Amino acid sequence: MLPTRRHFLQRISAWVGTAALVPYWNTAAGRSLQRALVDISDLTPGETATDETFWYQVKQAYTVSPQILNLNNGGVSPQPLVVQEAVERYNRLSNEAPSYYMWQILDQGREPLRAELADLAGCSPEEIAINRNSSEALETVIFGLRLQAGDEVVLTKQDYPNMINAWKQREKRDGIVLRWLNFEFPIEDKAAIVQEFVNAFTDKTKVVHITHLINWIGQLLPAREIALEAKKRGIEVLVDGAHSFAHFDFKIPDLECDYFGTSLHKWLCAPFGSGLLYVKKEKITGLYPLFGAPDPDSSDIRKFESLGTRSFAIEQAIGQAIQFHHMIGAERKFARLHYLKNYWAEKVVQFPGVRVHTSLNPEFAGAIALISVDGKTPEELASYLMSKHRIHTVAINWENIHGVRVTPNVYTVTRDLDRFVQAVKEFLSF
Ligand SMILES: Cc1ncc(COP(=O)(O)O)c(C=O)c1O
Repeated sequence: MLPTRRHFLQRISAWVGTAALVPYWNTAAGRSLQRALVDISDLTPGETATDETFWYQVKQAYTVSPQILNLNNGGVSPQPLVVQEAVERYNRLSNEAPSYYMWQILDQGREPLRAELADLAGCSPEEIAINRNSSEALETVIFGLRLQAGDEVVLTKQDYPNMINAWKQREKRDGIVLRWLNFEFPIEDKAAIVQEFVNAFTDKTKVVHITHLINWIGQLLPAREIALEAKKRGIEVLVDGAHSFAHFDFKIPDLECDYFGTSLHKWLCAPFGSGLLYVKKEKITGLYPLFGAPDPDSSDIRKFESLGTRSFAIEQAIGQAIQFHHMIGAERKFARLHYLKNYWAEKVVQFPGVRVHTSLNPEFAGAIALISVDGKTPEELASYLMSKHRIHTVAINWENIHGVRVTPNVYTVTRDLDRFVQAVKEFLSF
């Protein structure tokens, strides 16, 4: 539910109040964004999605290059200036006396941060471990589960390489058996996807690995529906939420999973090298930590945080990214991201030989989409876009997925996408 105008205004003054020490909010761009937030407070997410004036203000909160048009937010996202400033402030403070400021002062921020992340994720703080990225979170689970030789894991050829490699390592080391699914995306039929997973389940299946949003092509999998089928059969559910968290508007427990990992430097726009691991309360005891902890059988989620020395500046600045995310609002953010994807995709698909390989339906996709041009390789299109138009995308060649991935973000405006659409048109006669 959207906050009422009064609540929204109260929230804005609270952000600005608590951010009184944050230089960005006292700049002209910061004040202008505050006014724009008040202006859109009566609009629905759908109405806000098309309000370019508002999104231009959001763009000013970032420091993205006006020379390079970055349409590869499917890799990693830039941080708004408030987040960058926080990293720098905390880092400078740490350098005044590292072991004092990091371990005695900044460290005190971890529990409040855990609570804020839990609020965002919709779970208990006792189910959130703060770490550095999705790989760390998911590999904690992949290597921490107590599996025996012969136990089966269901996963797909379209999962992320780090996770696939981790599972293959367990296969080699422990003799577990990997059961592979291979999808032809896009698919706009939830039941068909669920059925493929169910067909792969046997009485030896112990775990299902679900990539919530397939990074290569932007397909959203019905994680909750797959998880419910898995649960009926006593199968544990691990969700790779690297690209779904803070992109789609959902809470982790909605997915009915046991484990969930994400990178906060993707759609939350938190500092590079920040992530989280969710472990359902009753599953914590049975999961080994990746880095040894005093009691590996402990039921305390903090046993997954024995990472050694890391940047407390990065960790603490996650708080500013959460505030920025709330300021835009999860519903508004998703509506805008989906609008932007469809804005360009509906135009380029009209051009002869151009194909869009991602659903335009918000139940199956968000901001990430893949296109191809008949007779051209993904590399040819991606390098043309960069060399002739300074548009940064990425060529994808993974299993049965071939094309150029295009991913806008909240700082992208439709004028940027017009530039991209025009560049694709020119490529066709190049
Ligand atoms: C689906 C998916 N899982 C996991 C990862 C790993 O993320 P990180 O490099 O932040 O650990 C990525 C990275 O792009 C991804 O797309």
